[in-house]
Formats: sequence, structure tokens, C-alpha cells
Amino acid sequence: MSDLHSLRVLFRSAQIEARVAQLGRTISNDFAGESLVLIGVLKGAAIFLSDLARRIDADCTFDFVAVSSYGKGTTSGGQVKLIKDLDESIEDRHVILVEDILDTGLTLSFMRKVLLQHHPRTLRVAALLDKPERRLKPIEADYVGFTIPDHFVVGYGMDFAELYRNLPDICILSDAPAGQPSSAKG
Ligand code: IMP
Ligand code: MG
Repeated sequence: MSDLHSLRVLFRSAQIEARVAQLGRTISNDFAGESLVLIGVLKGAAIFLSDLARRIDADCTFDFVAVSSYGKGTTSGGQVKLIKDLDESIEDRHVILVEDILDTGLTLSFMRKVLLQHHPRTLRVAALLDKPERRLKPIEADYVGFTIPDHFVVGYGMDFAELYRNLPDICILSDAPAGQPSSAKG
């Protein structure tokens, strides 16, 4: 697939599908009889959100936000800024914030703060991947697909310099330095 980087499969699409189905069942049980707003963080969470949503047995609406990070070079240690806000009100709604990876936690702790200002009824976080070793902010997801060590991964929505989002598997970009962020947020 790539001449630029060597890719090693970490999770095959069938494994991802099975885990996302389990998450969907858990969420369906947790919110039985309620309606939900799923808020995806663009662009990385788009594929996870679309698969997860189809595994949730409840009335769901979607919204999307986008963030960018500023700070030292391209590291995600900088400040996070909202570059696309919500389209619909989430006041008094059950909200699940859907993210591809929980890494340093800067993005999700920023987004949690922003969303809480809109007074949702409940706010939970679903992250497909969690890299706890990288955490700078004390935040945990309520629903986690897989916990992984500090590898830079691509595929199933996740990119390196905007590439590889369309890979069906999640792969380790083995010649990228550990923890190297994508060129932009998302
Ligand atoms: P955080 O603010 O450091 O938690 O950043 C989370 C965001 O950084 C994710 O939503 C991704 O967009 C990006 N990111 C972090 N780790 C990776 C990775 O291994 N591959 C691709 N993107 C990543
Ligand atoms: Mg992202």
C-alpha cells in the first residue's frame, strides 16, 4: 500500500468490527429508551462514529466538531482551539463525544470543557484507542475500544500527514518515531 512507510497490522478490521459491536451493545444498554447525540471529532473519528452508530440501538443524532492545536511545532502539546462548532443545541441531551484516540488527553479535556458549557444532560466519552502512557491531562474515556502502548497508528480513520485514513485495519507506522503526531489535529 505504501512506498513511504512500513505498516504493521495491530488490529484487523474483523477485530475492530467485533469490538465496536460490543461497545454499541454496552452503550445501547446504558441508554435504553433514551435518545443520544453522538459528537465526532473530525476527521479521525468519522469512521469509528459511523460504525459505532450502526451498532447502537437507540435514537441517535450526529454532530461533528473540529479542533486544531497550536504550540510547539507539530507536537500536540500546544493549545487546542475549536475550528468547527456544534450545529445543534445539546442542552439537556445525552451526549457521547466520539474520538479516534485518547493520547495526551489535551483534545478531549478541552472538548469536555466546551461541551459542558452547553449544559448537556449527561456527557460521556468514547475513544476507539487509548494510549495511557502518553497522558498529560487526567482524563479517561467511559468507553474504550482498545488500550495500546505508545505506538503511532494509522488506518480506520487515523492518519499520518492525512494519509492512510482509509485503511480498513489499524496499523503501526513502524518507522515513525513513537508519539509523533499527525500534521494536523483530527
Ligand atoms: P491528544 O490531544 O494528544 O489526546 O490528541 C488526540 C488526537 O491526536 C487524536 O484524535 C488524533 O487525531 C491524534 N493522534 C494521537 N495519536 C495518534 C496516532 O497514533 N495516530 C494518528 N493520530 C494520532
Ligand atoms: Mg482525532
